[in-house]
Amino acid sequence: MICIFDLEKSFQEKIDKEIKIEPKDWMPEAYRKTNLRQISQHAHSEIVGMLPEGNWISRAPSLKRKAILIAKVQDEAGHGLYLYSAAETLGTSRDQMVEDLNSGKAKYSSIFNYPTLTWADMGAVGWLVDGAAILNQVMLCRTSYGPYARAMVRICKEESFHQRQGFESLLVLSKGTKAQRDMCQDAINRWWWPSLMMFGPKDNESTNSDQSIKWKIKRKTNDELRQQFVDMVAEQVKLLGMTLPDPNLKWNEERNHYDFGEINWEEFWNVVKGNGPCNKQRLVDRNKAHDEGTWVREAALAYAEKRKNKLKTKAT
Ligand code: 3HC
Repeated sequence: MICIFDLEKSFQEKIDKEIKIEPKDWMPEAYRKTNLRQISQHAHSEIVGMLPEGNWISRAPSLKRKAILIAKVQDEAGHGLYLYSAAETLGTSRDQMVEDLNSGKAKYSSIFNYPTLTWADMGAVGWLVDGAAILNQVMLCRTSYGPYARAMVRICKEESFHQRQGFESLLVLSKGTKAQRDMCQDAINRWWWPSLMMFGPKDNESTNSDQSIKWKIKRKTNDELRQQFVDMVAEQVKLLGMTLPDPNLKWNEERNHYDFGEINWEEFWNVVKGNGPCNKQRLVDRNKAHDEGTWVREAALAYAEKRKNKLKTKAT
């Protein structure tokens, strides 16, 4: 008789050999739960992430910028859908996940609880927020759970366009009038620290990291990815002729990395617990969008039912 110990041992061996875990494979309950937690939180982040940018579609300064922004927001919706589908393979329903998001029970990324105050925020969100997201997500293309890894491949291709368009938009502002340059710097100042928080708590406070790394759900720790992000952005910001709002940011020869200042962790946990500047508004907006979309879901279901009956009649 196979005991649980043997199952866990062969499961870990599979992971160590880089064999993907598929939905019908045996997996420890904790592996299933942790993937479900992470993938659903990720899906919710994509969906809530549409709100701060959607806010600017009607105010984009040109047709070109408007077309780019619409495409980007649509991409986020698509990412949410791939990820909900991947999460469903772990035994939950999309309806349940949406209910958890709309009731405030489920988490989503802290970053989407900050307001987008000026047009320059669209550039800063693209460059910094999508830039942080993509570092984390490139690693997830090699995550051990097959459906999650496959969903991430396409998502990453689109995210890299998001980051580039953000940087390019800020580059234009950085070469503009004094008012445009000030707006660009102000957006960078406001989005820098929240972007660093996206990577999650420090490694010694990250409750899930050790096990997730052992199971190759995560390939790098929160602090490793955060450092990679700081090193990348500290160089890119020079091309904009702007600065990052951190007096302690300094190249460290010995470490071969940039040193940077302490993140305000109190602010981070406050936002995660629902008390950030926009948490309440985001949930109101999500619930409104969900309620207003009821007729679309009902119409799609009615159409699917009609088609099924038609096919049935044809077959008989
Ligand atoms: N915002 C909100 N909650 C966060 C958080 C953040 N930035 N960072 C961590 N947390 C939460 C975790 O969810 C966890 O809570 P839980 O145990 O109740 O679920 C707790 O804080 C402790 O953190 P851990 O480090 O132990 O958690 P993880 O091991 O899950 O690591 C993570 C956190 C690095 C965000 C990881 O979950 C991950 O890689 N997720 C997938 C990527 C993702 O969700 N990115 C979000 C942004 S997506 C995006 O930006 C869309 C783009 O199109 C713009």
